[in-house]
Amino acid sequence: MKLLVCGAAGFIGSNFVRLRVRDHGDEITVLDKLTYAGRMENLQDVESDIRFVHGAIEDPAAVAEAIGDAEAIVNFAAETHVDRSIADPEGFLVTNMQGTHVLLEAARQRGLRYLQVSTDEVYGSIEEGSFTEDSPLEPSSPYSATKTGADLLVSSYYHTYGLETVICRGSNNYGPHQYPEKLIPLMILNALAGDTLPVYGDGRNVRNWLFVEDFARGIGHALLHGQPGEVYNCGGPDECDNLTVVNRIIELTGAGPDLIEFVTDRPGHDRRYSLSSDKLQGLGWRAQVRFDEGIARTVDWYRENEWWWGSIRSGEYREYYERHYGRALKA
Ligand code: NAD
Ligand code: TYD
Repeated sequence: MKLLVCGAAGFIGSNFVRLRVRDHGDEITVLDKLTYAGRMENLQDVESDIRFVHGAIEDPAAVAEAIGDAEAIVNFAAETHVDRSIADPEGFLVTNMQGTHVLLEAARQRGLRYLQVSTDEVYGSIEEGSFTEDSPLEPSSPYSATKTGADLLVSSYYHTYGLETVICRGSNNYGPHQYPEKLIPLMILNALAGDTLPVYGDGRNVRNWLFVEDFARGIGHALLHGQPGEVYNCGGPDECDNLTVVNRIIELTGAGPDLIEFVTDRPGHDRRYSLSSDKLQGLGWRAQVRFDEGIARTVDWYRENEWWWGSIRSGEYREYYERHYGRALKA
């Protein structure tokens, strides 16, 4: 297929592009603003196979330049970190909602299929059982509220204009190339550096962990086999609380358990996420990587790829870390 993939210099989008180029021979143009989270290093091994356009999804001129003769748009582009959305929500509105609207308009004018990459966080928190696609949308954070707004806009373009839209909602992803502001890479890099491991609250919040390659395959599945106007959940095979995740990272890195430090909880912290993926499984998708295997592969990748994260830990991230955690990263 000929695809315009937005936000693919980030974590999940770059894993998706790698999969589509290598296994499916898709012709891909990437449109990315290269924010702090977007890095050409993420696309290094497929750079010669794709066209790259540097620009923002909320900029119609950049979208028009990038779109070429694409048959479909896949949108990963977003501001994605809950803690940053709590500190400063404005950029989340611009990218996640206004940007999605500009892409939808471009798809509508050209009659293109449109896949929106979304998140389980639009459903809010669940104490027991799992969210289905029919669960009510009750987002808690500015991040998840703007992702919900985008999903509703996408659905409105299906209902109003008959645009062929599909929404794919993933649970928490982990794996190679994830920016270390998120729980798993943050804890791996701190553990490798012998730095403290900041666990929010009591550490008993539960996430439904999905290896990034499984999500990339799930999105491809929803794009090719999903019904227009439908939503597909894509959840990981294992649920785990944060303390269990951190202890597993301690074991795999050989760090000391005394590095764990309980810190002030995140405001409005969702207690548990859990997705039912029955509908996507009905299309033939299955998660292939269990948490035990995925976390070991992820720790190995960070251990072996200091070239990738070395420059991150000395730049913007260092400033963010100090601002957010009130202490400096260990060099
Ligand atoms: P990321 O933060 O690693 O990457 C985001 C990418 O979007 C970066 O390359 C960035 O430069 C780009 N971008 C940001 N603003 C842009 C703009 N205005 N115009 C163009 N590009 C812009 O994010 P990720 O973790 O790879 O998440 C990708 C998508 O998947 C997001 O839509 C996110 O909501 C969704 N999602 C993420 C997870 C997760 O666990 N990380 C889970 C489910 C869904
Ligand atoms: P995160 O990776 O930010 O993903 P999300 O909030 O989108 O689920 O956080 C995952 C879990 O880890 C969440 O319960 C918050 C917790 N957490 C910590 O305990 N310490 C940290 O430093 C971070 C970044 C997250």
